[in-house]
Amino acid sequence: MFATDRVRLRPPTPDDAPNMFRLYGDPELHLVTDGEPFLPRHVGQVRARLEKQVTEPPDGQTAVSLLAETVADGTFLGGGSLWGVNPFNQYAHLGISLLPEARGQGYGTEVIQLLCRYGFRNRNLRRLELETLASNTAMRRTAETCGFTHEGTQREREYDGDGFADMVIYGLLRRDWTP
Ligand SMILES: CC(C)(COP(=O)(O)OP(=O)(O)OC[C@H]1O[C@@H](n2cnc3c(N)ncnc32)[C@H](O)[C@@H]1OP(=O)(O)O)[C@@H](O)C(=O)NCCC(=O)NCCS
Repeated sequence: MFATDRVRLRPPTPDDAPNMFRLYGDPELHLVTDGEPFLPRHVGQVRARLEKQVTEPPDGQTAVSLLAETVADGTFLGGGSLWGVNPFNQYAHLGISLLPEARGQGYGTEVIQLLCRYGFRNRNLRRLELETLASNTAMRRTAETCGFTHEGTQREREYDGDGFADMVIYGLLRRDWTP
């Protein structure tokens, strides 16, 4: 589907439930990656949701969630998404989360580049956005490496487990994108 030499993105299947459960079942990571409260779920609920998507696939109009794995042997790396798609204004947001052991090896950069390609080329978007906690150096650096510009800081916007932390917003216009 969407791939570099090392990383492939594809829709998750019910068999991916244990990996998805591990990725999204960490309450501390949830504080970093999600603005909604963490709700504990068991692996069976994750599988049930993925099974439902087999017969009732999401229409993908406003969001697309993909799984990232290695091309070499299909090792699960994490997930990436295009969400908040606004076709009228032609923009969307990007989201990404990798397992701890997959981080710091360039995979995040490749996943963001693949999501940009999907957003700009296949969804004909004009602008992509990324938001993260100001303290998330890894995400900020990855966004910058992928060509995103720091466009602003929202003060005390998100609860991070200790208090309300600043959020930074990054944007990339299609005309500034290097495929
Ligand atoms: C953020 C994340 C996706 C980055 O992916 P990654 O594979 O670890 O990043 P890469 O290896 O591609 O590195 C990209 C850049 O970030 C830098 N970087 C990576 N981890 C870093 C860290 N912990 N501290 C500082 N810089 C870091 C790299 O040096 C590289 O910089 P360069 O392009 O100048 O060489 C990944 O760390 C992750 O999933 N973190 C947890 C979830 C998360 O925070 N998601 C974002 C929520 S908005």
